[in-house]
Amino acid sequence: RQRIFSGMQPTDGSLHLGNYIGALSQWIALQDSYDALYCVVDLHALTVNPDPALLRERTRRTAAQYLAGGIDPERSVLFVQSHVAAHAELAWLLSCQTGFGEASRMTQFKDKSAKQGSDGTTVGLFTYPVLMAADILLYDAALVPVGEDQRQHLELTRDLAQRLNTRFGDGTAVVPEAHIVKAVAKIQDLQDPGAKMSKSSTGGKGVVWLLEDPKKAVKAIKSAVTDADESYGVRFDPVAKPGISNLLTIFSAVTGRDVDEIATEYDGRGYGYLKVDLADAVVAFLEPFQARANTYLADPAQLDKVLADGADRAREIAQPVLERLYERFGLLPAR
Ligand code: TYM
Repeated sequence: RQRIFSGMQPTDGSLHLGNYIGALSQWIALQDSYDALYCVVDLHALTVNPDPALLRERTRRTAAQYLAGGIDPERSVLFVQSHVAAHAELAWLLSCQTGFGEASRMTQFKDKSAKQGSDGTTVGLFTYPVLMAADILLYDAALVPVGEDQRQHLELTRDLAQRLNTRFGDGTAVVPEAHIVKAVAKIQDLQDPGAKMSKSSTGGKGVVWLLEDPKKAVKAIKSAVTDADESYGVRFDPVAKPGISNLLTIFSAVTGRDVDEIATEYDGRGYGYLKVDLADAVVAFLEPFQARANTYLADPAQLDKVLADGADRAREIAQPVLERLYERFGLLPAR
């Protein structure tokens, strides 16, 4: 079976609906047909210099949300990035294969560093995509399920894998494919249908957080910006009706219903009906999700055990791959 790898950063107290629809729900769908590794990428979260106690808590909360969403630790390897030292070790090898200009062209780096200024921007933020490439290449992953915003990082990973094969011989690295499901790869901000849902888009007002009070989700959905077109036409048309189309995508994702079928049901009835029913559907999704997440969070020792087991399994896969790469690069074996 082919291997897949993906991860999320524990940067907030909760994942949001974009992370769930664009990534986590795809991971769950894939875990039966692939050997999957799903990682909480805590080393990546260090790039924003988090408070240590908060980082620890958020790492557990992220893992609990993977489990609550349906990642089965028996079928998939669920672990924390910093528990497997080889991620950082391989990142060094890859950083010596990455052009400075190549890394400078990463749009996420350009956006974030522009906001932080040159001394506020760490070297870690700059080399972040190299660590991400290491995450993927360390497991010979063939497929990487992510949202649209990670496409460029995946391209860099593929370029690096191809470069290794050219420089050090075929079979040095597996060239991974991005698995980006167009229909769900970019959930938009509820207050700004032109921007992806993220905490920075509209100061968080257009975000639905998976672990927050569902009442806040209801409020965010009911005040969602729809479209200037007041004909109350409800149809899936991301260009002419980005706001409505985003609501339909979310509706479909949390209910499993078909987008067009939902659109037909609400067409001509006014946006208010759509929003009220969507809010109910999101609450019906969030409540059991939160109950499951809280069960995992109520027993941190058990959660840590699941993560420790996952790390043991991840290390077993990673170690021979790291050794292969060390050998190809010409590093002298230790014994
Ligand atoms: P992160 O933590 O920002 O986001 C986690 C996942 O959620 C997806 N996503 C979205 N999908 C649809 N609509 C949105 N509005 C939305 N917002 C976020 C992201 O595309 C991502 O799939 N660099 C990565 C983490 C990472 C990684 C990896 C991923 C580190 N190493 C190796 C894959 C493989 C990141 O910051 O994702």
